[in-house]
Amino acid sequence: MKIKSLFLALLVCACQSSQISTTREPEVGPLGEQAMVSSAHPLATKVGVEVLKNGGNAIDAAVAVKFALAVVFPRAGNLGGGGFAVYRLNDGSTGALDFREKAPKNASRNMYLDEAGNVIDNLSLIGHKAAGVPGSVDGILKLHEKLGTKPLAELIQPSIELAYYGFTITEDQADEFNEKSEEFVEVNGPDFFLVKDQLWQAGDTLKFTELAATLTQIRDRGREGFYGGIVADQIVKEMQSGGGLITEEDLKAYNAQWRNPITSSYRGHKIISMPPPSSGGVAILQLLQGAELYDVKAMGHNTAETIHLMTELERRVYADRATHLGDPDYYDIPVDMLLDPEYNKERFSSISLKKKTDSQEIKEGEVEIIESVETTHFSIVDPEGNAVSLTTTLNSFFGCKVYVKGAGFFLNNEMDDFSAKPGVPNQFGLVGGEANSILPEKRMLSSMTPTLVEKDGKLKMVVGTPGGSTIITSNFQVIMNVIDHGMGMQDAVNATRTHSQWLPDRILIEERPIKPNVIKGLEKLGHVIERRKSMGRMDCILVRDDGKLEGGADYSRGDNYAEGF
Ligand code: DON
Repeated sequence: MKIKSLFLALLVCACQSSQISTTREPEVGPLGEQAMVSSAHPLATKVGVEVLKNGGNAIDAAVAVKFALAVVFPRAGNLGGGGFAVYRLNDGSTGALDFREKAPKNASRNMYLDEAGNVIDNLSLIGHKAAGVPGSVDGILKLHEKLGTKPLAELIQPSIELAYYGFTITEDQADEFNEKSEEFVEVNGPDFFLVKDQLWQAGDTLKFTELAATLTQIRDRGREGFYGGIVADQIVKEMQSGGGLITEEDLKAYNAQWRNPITSSYRGHKIISMPPPSSGGVAILQLLQGAELYDVKAMGHNTAETIHLMTELERRVYADRATHLGDPDYYDIPVDMLLDPEYNKERFSSISLKKKTDSQEIKEGEVEIIESVETTHFSIVDPEGNAVSLTTTLNSFFGCKVYVKGAGFFLNNEMDDFSAKPGVPNQFGLVGGEANSILPEKRMLSSMTPTLVEKDGKLKMVVGTPGGSTIITSNFQVIMNVIDHGMGMQDAVNATRTHSQWLPDRILIEERPIKPNVIKGLEKLGHVIERRKSMGRMDCILVRDDGKLEGGADYSRGDNYAEGF
């Protein structure tokens, strides 16, 4: 993509001329007069745009894009995972759908511990035992049933064709297949079709014929085409072959839940986000309540002072997350308290702009590293002004790497999002306690944060991203970039991102342009800084003041692509 190369060239020049360049050209994303779709893959975006051009609404497009991502973006797009969707219709009504995976009925609190009570390495991450009961298909069908206008068959057909006839893979995809080949073989055996004698290359054609058959089952039989019949049999057989826990009964019982979105205000805007079992909505609303106590605009974008403030807010909010958040069906979550402006004012009152707080002073805990992992988000606005923000995941790249034989899709490793043992970090370095302990049929806590922003009763932004624990802070920054720093959507997405999360006690800063004095300034305040190649792959939409829709797709961090009309 031309623009991508230009951006990278600018970035390379910037980094070569100075380690700490400030160079970052402002950029306007694609504009639409009526509608916009932004997703992790150009082919999925185009499927959504076609649905909208044919008169489908944002929900129809979301259904089509969700299935398309399961084909063309298999590391995160999925049938074997779960996710959350938040929508806002043009009459101002909103809703949230929780299609998060659930622990199988045979799961138990200590299932990932050895006899000495220590967490067994990788058991919640790789292989059959790591999989939760998939929620994506039930979720997407419920969304369609409630708000869709086009027949399901019409929305799923493009994905069946992409799977059956194949599509060409990108460089990023070739790299990820090559990178994961050892794990694929370890879990799926030496003949696994995604492992070839030669390395995968950009432009190779990939077909998922078994997946085409599964999608056809769903097209023709709806929910029963996945949670019953041949596909359910294939999942159960796969589980039995590798010591997994998911049973026929688990699949039958899976039920996506409608929930009430949570809201709060930020400088005259209404923020609408996902309630528990996402921690993301509560956390981002707390962070924004904290940011509102300061003149962030005057403090400046990505200055040492602003990054310090964000870090201090994040330290406190992620500590709350670890203690208080989990599945609301199993644990009494104090959402009202956490979103009470008085509570947050008090919670943030210990922040000093002159010096960092030690995370250990806030709460005890020992944590390790955050690994690179995968989820995907898309945002859609239709010509009527209806909007959908949807984040979906297998958790890690290709989930637990188990590919359901015959059915043609990967299963999630979402069980790792539970707290396997109080205080022991998961792959994102996140710790948790009782609220997020494992119980049969419980949903594991998530950071996925599909979010909408409204101003004066009208839609203003649709935002979201993958990135594990960095999802919350990426969304937080993109919202502030637009509202406080006056950026357009693409610019807000391109901007260098930072992240901190209470534990470990350090700030991650992307290896992208950052003003020269910022890192030194932060170190002076006592912070430990680590650079990360990139964090998040955002897909956002802004309704500009002139009424046009601006897409903000993270094309410089991934294959993300926005298109409007
Ligand atoms: O639900 C969660 O918070 C995680 N399973 C999300 C994983 C994720 O975002 C990986 N993406 N890069």
